[in-house]
Amino acid sequence: MTSILVRNGLVITSTGIYQLDVRIEDGLIMEIGRGLPASGVEEVIEARGHYVLPGVVDEHVHMREPGLEYKDDFEHGSKAAVKGGVTTVIEHPNTIPPVDTPSRLREKAEILKPKAYVDFALTGVLHDGNTHLFEDILAEGAVGFKVFMGPTTGNIPPPSDSSLYEILSKSAKHNTRIMFHAEDHALVVYFTEKARKLGENPILHRDARPPVTEVYSIAKIATIAKYTGGKPHIVHVSSIDALEAVMNARKLGVDITAETCPHYLVLGEEDYSKYGSLVKVNPPIRGGIQREKLLEAVAKGYFDAIGSDHAPHTPEEKSKSIWEASAGFAGVQTMLPLMLDLAIRGFTPLTTIPKLLSENPAKLFKLWPFKGSILPGANGDLVIVDPNTEFVITPEWLEYKYKISPFIGWRLKGRVKHVVLRGSIVVRDGELTGVKTGVWLKPITK
Ligand code: DOR
Ligand code: ZN
Repeated sequence: MTSILVRNGLVITSTGIYQLDVRIEDGLIMEIGRGLPASGVEEVIEARGHYVLPGVVDEHVHMREPGLEYKDDFEHGSKAAVKGGVTTVIEHPNTIPPVDTPSRLREKAEILKPKAYVDFALTGVLHDGNTHLFEDILAEGAVGFKVFMGPTTGNIPPPSDSSLYEILSKSAKHNTRIMFHAEDHALVVYFTEKARKLGENPILHRDARPPVTEVYSIAKIATIAKYTGGKPHIVHVSSIDALEAVMNARKLGVDITAETCPHYLVLGEEDYSKYGSLVKVNPPIRGGIQREKLLEAVAKGYFDAIGSDHAPHTPEEKSKSIWEASAGFAGVQTMLPLMLDLAIRGFTPLTTIPKLLSENPAKLFKLWPFKGSILPGANGDLVIVDPNTEFVITPEWLEYKYKISPFIGWRLKGRVKHVVLRGSIVVRDGELTGVKTGVWLKPITK
């Protein structure tokens, strides 16, 4: 029997902010209310003036196991997650081997389990060679699937139009969300060839993957989703053009959802000259008006989710020339701090955080209501934030295998103080206290 009472905090939900107590018993939220009694409770956390948020469900991480441990591993990655207020991660399938069969999904879970500082869920990848395994991968415990429409880490080829039709038909039939890396393969190849001829200035990466590559891919996905009833989720939307394509499809009745990532909201074109290949990511950081409009869209509630697209590589891979460098960078530990900073500085409403970082990801990937919300009966996953402290991101604070991040040295408003995972305090006053008790989460089916 373990029990904790988080008292007098400002509980932030997707609909409002309320001063409430939260009592957790045996890993589950038991009671939410005012003036809850402390008698019989093992530990009381006094949270007056602090925010109390649901644990973050990061729907988009590439923690590199199995097969790419030289870049990073699940032990470092999940430790980084918990220090950044993330209590559940949804792992993406472009590992080696890719997660494209039921046994590979099961084997991946077995590898991750003993290393998990946070709870985790798995996705499978779909391509031309395995659409017939959709049901079997689902039955093994996938919470969704990923489809790569454009080239990126893992070089998983895009599906043919007929496979895409098949995938989205099955998505409708089984009520399963399909995450799409939506950059059109042929257009990316075309624009990359053109951009490479112009030299090695890092900003040319942006020209190699202009918004039309996203829009064109989304239009294709949305068209097929309209006729099949499939449920696409467009991950890492990096341009307002792409978001408009999603919104246009929604107007036509397509059940399409969209994610963006903190780096598209906080980094700009000037960062290509500052950080070089470190900020190379697919799709690219666009900056300028794109960044402003994306931030506005988050504030207005046009996005369904925010994920980190945590994608670590080695310092060597990240210091090559722009065309040779690997795309992506680590971000699971900095996602919540960056989003808190934006909210505290008034760019986005605070309620956006539980909605886009916890509740909606849990809903989209069948982990809700056990994960993603502060509700009686839900898992006791909480983040307690001191909004009045500033903190600076340092290499010492980062738990990644390689302490590289464009955000080192950034001063942010708000500090993740305590993190609670299923009733256990896994981060206490900013210090990791948790052990490897993370569990594999399978979809909740009703
Ligand atoms: O830049 C990226 N890196 N984009 C992706 O979609 C994949 C990721 C990775 O796994 O490295
Ligand atoms: Zn990704």
